[in-house]
Amino acid sequence: MQDLAGKHIVLGLTGGIACYKSAELCRLFVKAGATVQVVMTEAAEEFITPVTMQALSGRTVYTSQWDTREPNNMPHINLSREADAIVLAPCSADFIARLVQGRADDLLSLMCLARPMDRVALLIAPAMNREMWAHPATQRNLMQVAADGATVLGVGSGWQACGETGDGRMLEPAQLLEDITAFFQPKLLAGQKVLVTAGPTFEALDPIRGITNHSSGKMGFAIARAAREAGAEVTLVAGPVHLPTPRGVTRVDVLSAQDMLEVTTHAAQSASIFVATAAVADWRPATQSDQKIKKDGSGKTPVLEFVENADILLSVAKSERAQARKLFCVGFAAESENLAEHAKAKRERKGIPLLVGNIGPLTFGQDDNALLLVDAKGVRELPRAPKLTLARELMAEIAARLPDWRA
Ligand code: CTP
Repeated sequence: MQDLAGKHIVLGLTGGIACYKSAELCRLFVKAGATVQVVMTEAAEEFITPVTMQALSGRTVYTSQWDTREPNNMPHINLSREADAIVLAPCSADFIARLVQGRADDLLSLMCLARPMDRVALLIAPAMNREMWAHPATQRNLMQVAADGATVLGVGSGWQACGETGDGRMLEPAQLLEDITAFFQPKLLAGQKVLVTAGPTFEALDPIRGITNHSSGKMGFAIARAAREAGAEVTLVAGPVHLPTPRGVTRVDVLSAQDMLEVTTHAAQSASIFVATAAVADWRPATQSDQKIKKDGSGKTPVLEFVENADILLSVAKSERAQARKLFCVGFAAESENLAEHAKAKRERKGIPLLVGNIGPLTFGQDDNALLLVDAKGVRELPRAPKLTLARELMAEIAARLPDWRA
């Protein structure tokens, strides 16, 4: 997806072994539609060559404030004014200290100081040894750069090039891309607490087998990501799916509908928006065998009995909090035909302000989808698009409805 289309990013590299990851980050930026201008410090050039970064960004790299290519000989002014953001990745402990002091004795620090703060964001991806990261001087400096208007993207944890293990690694390029993409999204849900259910449930028959469905969880995960990007605090209650957790989202894994009901009911007590995308099993086996159900050789098949699962969305929508209009509930309906009709009926049956309909067989496992939004005023279609695009549009639709609904 061209999430960064139209954005111009200055990618600043400072000295650190994580420079090898910046090559991939540059490639991901370009793939996401951004134009990238790489600027490197002298120390960064010890780790990776400007040739590599030039080839990946498609632009010659700047390394010196005395670069004569600029007609006015002011690359620090020209380059910083064109940018939507300066991304420092990797940003060394030394460079953070230099930012804190407002030093300006090389091109990159000069650009950071000269950037128009109101429109050119400064994002920092620190990278250093765990002891350097934990040092009070570094932590103090990080707090100061954040107070001065920079966005600190955090660090990863794990094996470090020095052979030690701990915090301080630069985040992986894909994680940085996710964080930087999120940074550019409008914060329509700032201050909201969003709860999302996603994926199928698994209703065990015995320790080996169970009943489940084809839900991939992709739409719910996209919604959790979009809500987080929009500035909300997000809890994602996920059935058994193989999907990575969106950055910054609190994920609780569950198996059965009963587990999902318990976790969701609890989380709903403090949420302000609930989006139920999970394909919850309508029934579960009436009994669950402790041991594997065996064939007895007679050719007789087992007779399975089922009981109905609680409707999680219905029960949350009936809660005091939802009834007092402190919790905006959104349901999903997967239909095979007569989408508008079924969706309207379902919205009323569940007593919720917004229901999102989609055609089941056209969405399960797919990366894109089309949605039909049904509320008290009528029906609106969100045409076929990637699930993340639709999720972002849905977050905007929810944000737009909140003031009136709460009034
Ligand atoms: N839902 C839920 N708990 C259940 C069943 C459904 O929270 N036990 C939620 C789903 O997450 C979704 C919506 O309710 O948001 C779907 O409603 P439902 O009436 O179950 O739809 P279908 O399964 O499509 O039902 P039907 O068989 O009536 O078409």
